Amino acid sequence: MDIPAMRANFGKAAATGDEAPLYFYSHLFLSHPETRAMFPVSMAHQRDRLFTALGDVVARVDDLDSLVPILQQLGRDHRKFGTLAAHYPAVGASLLATLEHFDDEWTPELAKDWTEAYTLVSQVMIEAADEAAGQPAWWDAAVVAHERRTIDVAVLRVRPRTPLPYAAGQSVSLETDLRPRLWRYYSPANAPRPDGLLEFHVKARDGGPVSSALVRRVGVGDVLRLGPPMGHLALDPESDRDLLLVAGGMGLAPMKALLDQVARQGPSRRVDLFVGFRTEDHVYDAPELRRLEQEHPWLTVTVAVSHDKNSSLAQGDVGEVVMRHGPWLSREVFVAGPAPMVDDTVSRLLRDGVPRQRLHSEIFAPSRPGPSVDGEVTE
Ligand SMILES: Cc1cc2nc3c(=O)[nH]c(=O)nc-3n(C[C@H](O)[C@H](O)[C@H](O)COP(=O)(O)OP(=O)(O)OC[C@H]3O[C@@H](n4cnc5c(N)ncnc54)[C@H](O)[C@@H]3O)c2cc1C
Ligand code: HEM
Repeated sequence: MDIPAMRANFGKAAATGDEAPLYFYSHLFLSHPETRAMFPVSMAHQRDRLFTALGDVVARVDDLDSLVPILQQLGRDHRKFGTLAAHYPAVGASLLATLEHFDDEWTPELAKDWTEAYTLVSQVMIEAADEAAGQPAWWDAAVVAHERRTIDVAVLRVRPRTPLPYAAGQSVSLETDLRPRLWRYYSPANAPRPDGLLEFHVKARDGGPVSSALVRRVGVGDVLRLGPPMGHLALDPESDRDLLLVAGGMGLAPMKALLDQVARQGPSRRVDLFVGFRTEDHVYDAPELRRLEQEHPWLTVTVAVSHDKNSSLAQGDVGEVVMRHGPWLSREVFVAGPAPMVDDTVSRLLRDGVPRQRLHSEIFAPSRPGPSVDGEVTE
């Protein structure tokens, strides 16, 4: 497979902006009208998710080892859309038709390579979906508490009707009837509990349909749908290494889940948690963080602000503040938040000598295209 040629070919379609996704969806919905009902009612205001992801994922088949676990999660996750094995060839045909349409230099080799790569990727997703057949495709979960913490942040507690298995640090996608077929990822802020309760921290984004509904319109008694767990942030059960947890904004949620797991299961170890916000007004969880620090002698919490000179909190980007408190060479490190914050923190820690295999990060991008995610993210 000539991966660079495939990437260059996909690049031509991607360079057309909205045109290629439009062509792709028109092709798919005309050739297979039965797939239309799986997608959001209005695609006009929806940032394309599937087409971009397809190019991104399929052109990474040269790194199948790291791709497989992600594809398995995606395959299980796609059951919530009603995606069946028979739909995969349909999407593949529309993908190829689109890539051919936007490339004057389309070749039979490209056609062969894309078909091979797409088939490989589909097979992994289909097999994982089949293996999950005994599990629910999604979990109905009633909202049992809704707390508005700031003008744009709410903390929701939900109780799935049947237990949703996940690991602390993972995220799940979520849909509300108020925004049908718009699924977005959120990270539970607690480790799995015997009563099955999950806590979500949600920040309403400007023009964001799901986040603003969750913060401003959803209330106690409403039922949400949750997808299966995704993501790779998780504690290694074999390790009792001390931890460094770094969060930007809502990235605090999975860090609290990891902290909760250490508190529940041990072994007890030193945990340093750094959380960055723009200004002190954005610090939506201060009393809770103080309580945790008082309760657990092994925990230190540092809250930093990047744009609030009048605050008495630590000053600077959270990555910068973390480095002032180092060295962190012996730690297992977890980082979550917006892309610039995660990239900055991870590169500082790498430069400082923290081994790459001990650095685990998750970017809270507007959508989740696959192994490496980039998006226009600001906190
Ligand atoms: C693995 C993962 C975990 C996540 N966990 C959480 C979480 O615990 N809490 C939480 O609040 N969000 C989380 N997110 C982000 C969340 O999935 C949604 O992207 C977000 O809530 C916006 O959804 P929306 O439908 O309101 O807006 P969208 O329709 O997705 O986006 C509308 C516009 O809002 C802006 N926007 C959207 N998302 C962001 C963002 N993250 N940063 C800056 N601008 C943005 C963009 O300009 C975008 O074009 C997570 C994302 C990922 C990938
Ligand atoms: C190799 C095949 C496929 C890959 C790699 C893939 C991957 C993805 C990814 C990464 C997303 C974005 C998730 C997010 O960020 O919210 C997505 C969304 C989606 N996929 Fe797939 N997918 C594949 C095949 C299919 C098929 C066959 C169907 C069914 C027709 C399908 C239906 C959907 C739908 C409905 C969405 C949500 C779209 C939206 O919200 O706009 N996918 N897919």
